[in-house]
Parts: sequence; structure tokens; C-alpha cells
Amino acid sequence: MNNQSNNTLFTGKVAIQLRSVDSTNKYAQELLTKSTPIEGTVIVADEQYAGRGQVGSSWLSAACQNIILSVLFHPKFLLAKQQFYLNAAISLGIYHFIQQFPIPKTVKIKWPNDIYVGNQKIAGILIENTLKGTYLDWSIVGIGINVNQETFSETLQNPSSIKLLTGQEWNLDNCLQALYTCLEQQYLRIKTGDLVQLRADYINKLFQLGEEKKYFLEQEKRAITGTIEGVDAYGRLMLAYENRLQAFDMKEIRPILR
Ligand code: BTN
Repeated sequence: MNNQSNNTLFTGKVAIQLRSVDSTNKYAQELLTKSTPIEGTVIVADEQYAGRGQVGSSWLSAACQNIILSVLFHPKFLLAKQQFYLNAAISLGIYHFIQQFPIPKTVKIKWPNDIYVGNQKIAGILIENTLKGTYLDWSIVGIGINVNQETFSETLQNPSSIKLLTGQEWNLDNCLQALYTCLEQQYLRIKTGDLVQLRADYINKLFQLGEEKKYFLEQEKRAITGTIEGVDAYGRLMLAYENRLQAFDMKEIRPILR
């Protein structure tokens, strides 16, 4: 299988295709220590046996059914304190990729970077950055998208896949080509400094935006009712509750979904 890109400037032009690997993000990290890859190099795997998820969790994905990918971007023009914009660009790229399928439900970005359809997660993102001084250097953008998987471990909260949502099987090579294009389009927006509009677009697609919902405050260990108003320039979630508007970092808050 050759997963090189046909229709991008640099994303996926170099593709490393692996049958089975512990984690494509880990493989990318090792590649960075041994060489200077071309920006946009992708590592694609049929299967991971130690896939990594956010906040130390694991990512489970059935062999040969889904997208398991890490992309090496080199956003050296972005200050470390602006790294939210990379997260926004990648989330929007995946959002637009998912939007291309005939899915009869709304696609949303669950802050900070899960892709949801209705109340179900179909894609996850794990971005691991290296820094040079106050700027980003390399960024390993790990992406897992459930494409053709139909059954999931019971330990996962609300998983779904493109196949479950569309009733059809999808060709993974074609999916990858389309994904490379969507990711590059959004990544180029950070390169050209389209940050204000990028943030506005990201906010516009947020799961539960403007809806009064229940959230759990991890530090105070209590449930509240609040409304997402947006994210600030650092990517913190702005939530209105109990007559105030407060910014939250990751790990400080989570939605109570049921
Ligand atoms: C999450 O939602 O918890 C993030 C999941 C990220 C999974 C992808 S799969 C490809 C890449 N390699 C990994 O080990 N993790 C990411």
C-alpha cells in the first residue's frame, strides 16, 4: 500500500507505512532523534499495540480498519504560548474531513480536540510538541479516526465510526488522501497568520456551544450547570456559570455527558 499524497504541497508527500507498531507517535519521536525529516512526513500504521491517548490513556483501534497516523509538522513560526492554534487547525482539518461523508448527524469539536458526531466520539488527536526557546519546533500530530470498525471495547465511553454512521465501508487509502488535503489547508492558515478567523471557526464548531449543560469541576470536585461561550487566545474554555465567566485549562473541567 502506498499512502503518499497526490494532491498536497507537503503533507503526506513522504509516507512511512508500517504494518504493526507500538505507537506511530513514538515512532515519530524516535525518527526526530535520528534524522531531520521533511515537514509533512506521515507515519501510517495498520495496527498499534500500545497506542497512546490523551492524558496518559491508551488508544484502541482494530487492525486495518481505521486511520492510525502521525504527521510531522514544523510550526517554528508559532510561539509555544500560541500552540492552541495548531490544535485548532488540526481539529478543524479532521472536522472538514469527517464532513465529507454522508453522515446524518452534526459533527462537532469537543474541546479541546475530540471529534464528535452527535454524542459519540469518532476521532481523537494527540499532539506532542518539541520547543526551541519560546517557539515550537517539531510537532507530532497523532490522529486516530474510526473508519470501518463496528464493535468497540466496552471500556470506551461513546465510540462510533464513519461506517456505523453512514452504513458503508470506506477505502482507507482514499480516506488518507482526503485527510492530508484537509489537514494541510488548515495548517496553512496558521502559517499565513489567519489566527483570528481560525479561532472563530473553531469556536463556531464547538460541541455544546451556547447550550446550558452540566460540567464537572475537577479541582472543586462538584458538578455545575454552565454554558460554553468560546475559547480564549490560549485555547482555554470560557464557561459562563453562577453569574461569572471563567477560563478553564484541560484537566480542570469535563462535561457530564449522561
Ligand atoms: C485521544 O483521544 O485520546 C487521542 C488519541 C490519539 C490516537 C492516535 S492514533 C495515532 C497516534 N499514535 C498514538 O499512539 N496515538 C495517536
